[in-house]
Amino acid sequence: MQAISWEHDRLKLLDQTVLPLKKVYITCTTYQQVADAIRNMKVRGAPAIGVAAAYGMALAAGSIQAANRDEFLSKLKEAAGVLIATRPTAVNLAWAVDRIIAVAEAAEDWQQLPALIAKTARNMEEEDIAANRRLGRNGAKLLPDKVSILTHCNAGALATAGYGTALGIVRAAREMGKTVSVYADETRPYLQGARLTAFELMEDGFPVTLITDNMAGHVMQTGRINCVVLGADRIAANGDTANKIGTYSLAVLAHENNIPFYVAAPVSTLDLSLSTGDEIPIEERSPLEVTHVFGQQIAPESIHVYNPAFDVTPAKYITAIVTDKGVAFPPFNQSLPQLIQE
Ligand code: MRU
Repeated sequence: MQAISWEHDRLKLLDQTVLPLKKVYITCTTYQQVADAIRNMKVRGAPAIGVAAAYGMALAAGSIQAANRDEFLSKLKEAAGVLIATRPTAVNLAWAVDRIIAVAEAAEDWQQLPALIAKTARNMEEEDIAANRRLGRNGAKLLPDKVSILTHCNAGALATAGYGTALGIVRAAREMGKTVSVYADETRPYLQGARLTAFELMEDGFPVTLITDNMAGHVMQTGRINCVVLGADRIAANGDTANKIGTYSLAVLAHENNIPFYVAAPVSTLDLSLSTGDEIPIEERSPLEVTHVFGQQIAPESIHVYNPAFDVTPAKYITAIVTDKGVAFPPFNQSLPQLIQE
């Protein structure tokens, strides 16, 4: 399943706001359209918005009219600012855009930049898929031969350039001959679990059981799962991990039930410049995501709403952080820098 593709100098995105009921592709020809698609979650998931933003930079570069290198770079940085501002929590977005800016600044011939930036974005797409495959194998080795996994939100092919992080581990486990089944949390308010993870896993023929978020404790207590495997949007140097709202509650429940809690993320999700998760910016989204479901109002008119899109799971609840460069175990402020150096 491919959520992002670059075809004839245009960015094609599978519109994730209408899945699983409709499979609609949208085409972006400007970086502003890419920014809107990220903001409105037509494309979502930390690695996917990074790759989409890199292609957004390619679209920006292709449209810039400039008399010289300085003017070109200044307009490119304007586009970078717009793309980075769309969603604050997932570090992959700024990481990808900053990488494009670094390539542009280092280039000798600024007039070749549109082609060079498109090529760099394409490399980033391919690197993400390869990283997820490595990550998947690293994580699958940690699992028993017959395993029932609880996951949250969607950290699958739809949330990446392909294969997925948490769901990459699910895929790799099956490729290794393990028997895998998944419980998917529906993931209120945006329902990425019900709409995307359930859909993606069913398409690939995995046994998947959908539960509402408040069923997770019961599912753990009654021995229905062996481990929790989910993704990340930003991981601080001490291992504190920002991920979809509800992840923290799952971590506490897993700890209480002696269930391993694995975070899966490529090293592009690490932000070792932050010493703890307290410094991670948490995106707040529209109250309408809470008061309405598929356009249907489910709460009183004008009710006050708090809608944080992510929470931070303290490192003490995390059994291991599985990356494309290997598996980090606590203490993470030692194991994470080692992974990056290797
Ligand atoms: O708001 P979303 O759908 O972009 O949130 C996605 C998540 O929280 C994922 O778990 C995370 O980005 C990892 S995706 C491989």
